Amino acid sequence: MKPELMQVTNTRYRLNFHVAAPAGWINDPNGFVYFRGYYHIFYQYHPYSASWGPMHWGHARSKDLVHWETLPIALTPDEPITKQGVFSGSAIVKDDKMYLMYTGHHFGEAEDDSDFVEDQNIAVSDDGVTFEKFADNPVISAAQIPSDNTNEFRDPKVWKEDGQYYVVLGGQSKEDHLGQALLYSSVDLISWIYEGVIAKSEGIAEQGYIWECPDIFTLNEQQILLMSPKGIEPAGDAYQNLHQTGYMIGDLDLSKPIFNHGPFIEIDHGHDFYASQTTLAPDGRRIMFAWMAMWKSVMPEQADGWAGALTFPRELILRDDHVYMKPVAELAQLRITGTEQNHTWIPSEGDETLVSAAQSNELQLSVSADQDFDLKLVADTNGVLTLHYDCDNSKFTVSRSDRLDMRVGYVRPSDKVNLQILLDRSSLEIFINDGETVFTERYYSETYPDVVLHQNSSKRAQANIYDLDLQAIKY
Ligand code: FRU
Repeated sequence: MKPELMQVTNTRYRLNFHVAAPAGWINDPNGFVYFRGYYHIFYQYHPYSASWGPMHWGHARSKDLVHWETLPIALTPDEPITKQGVFSGSAIVKDDKMYLMYTGHHFGEAEDDSDFVEDQNIAVSDDGVTFEKFADNPVISAAQIPSDNTNEFRDPKVWKEDGQYYVVLGGQSKEDHLGQALLYSSVDLISWIYEGVIAKSEGIAEQGYIWECPDIFTLNEQQILLMSPKGIEPAGDAYQNLHQTGYMIGDLDLSKPIFNHGPFIEIDHGHDFYASQTTLAPDGRRIMFAWMAMWKSVMPEQADGWAGALTFPRELILRDDHVYMKPVAELAQLRITGTEQNHTWIPSEGDETLVSAAQSNELQLSVSADQDFDLKLVADTNGVLTLHYDCDNSKFTVSRSDRLDMRVGYVRPSDKVNLQILLDRSSLEIFINDGETVFTERYYSETYPDVVLHQNSSKRAQANIYDLDLQAIKY
């Protein structure tokens, strides 16, 4: 008997302009690609409960990156190779067809997760709506894993360069259990040749024991390896999440193959960010989605029949050896005409409400950088979330009423601090100084919170506030 699809039983935390599932559980974004006039995004999906289970690929598409239409489930775990899940992967267009490359996850002889097998598979679509798994899957079998890698072997990210296809995979060295990135090449996406380990963790505590969701791309003629290592230990204010997502800047030499790189840098400082994936837009922008959650976090929406969402799509920009993230410019299309408020004013000392009963809003705020301030979400006089700015240290701290642990990020000193904030019913994305430092957060409040600015002294401020589309995602 087929299990029943999950249903949403309460909409109190539902997001209005973020990609999420009709109901059930989601995690990583997958298969982000532009194909025949649409951006397609897929996601790790369990439609039968609000918890992780055998993974499917949920699917949505958009003409403009901001209005999304949910499509039928693209991939299901319906054959032995994917019995325990169609795990994460990516997409590429070849001969006007969309190819998905994904990890099949299944148990070995022990019939439990101590003995899993991971291999890489292909599915193809002519229309971008229905997908057929390749008859001769897997295309990279577990037998093609190099002898110095364990069975941790997943999350293929495929790209084309100089007439050749490449795929980078997340792995783990057998000898010392360190995360590593493996490279394979192919002329046709079907037969793959192992090329080598292009980069490896320098220690579990510093760089992790597995590199999930690796992604390699070029920004400003330098290569970026973006990935989600597991196992990094907290160090001061850094690496406070259970698992981290970040990047290394370097130079990928495909002929060796080797990725010579600098240090690992966290890309987002919030509680709720993991498993990012990028694609190249037709106009050359590098655009990223990530899972707006974290493994093992408490997710109050599970009580309502769903869990998890993707971040708002972000453009990545490399400047001064740092990756900046900002919401894609198409965000402007979500602003509801006539709701714009522009203020340039001298806020009074103390609290000043900027948005009352915020549902789905964009807030751009520019304040003098030489004074501390707090930006607060307040519901029924209760603090829900506070962003504190400490001017002496150019330091931002996020604290949440539902979490004991705070998150910290720094910016380079400047005259003004500018914030661009996306608020969507139970999610908050805070882009500071054009995306130099970003916090991605969920917040849970049954009533719509006010956004309140608290200053200790009267300094000129400037704010642009917009109401955003409440129906940008169609389930
Ligand atoms: C990352 C991850 C991937 C895996 C998927 C399974 O969050 O663990 O490595 O493919 O989730 O859902």
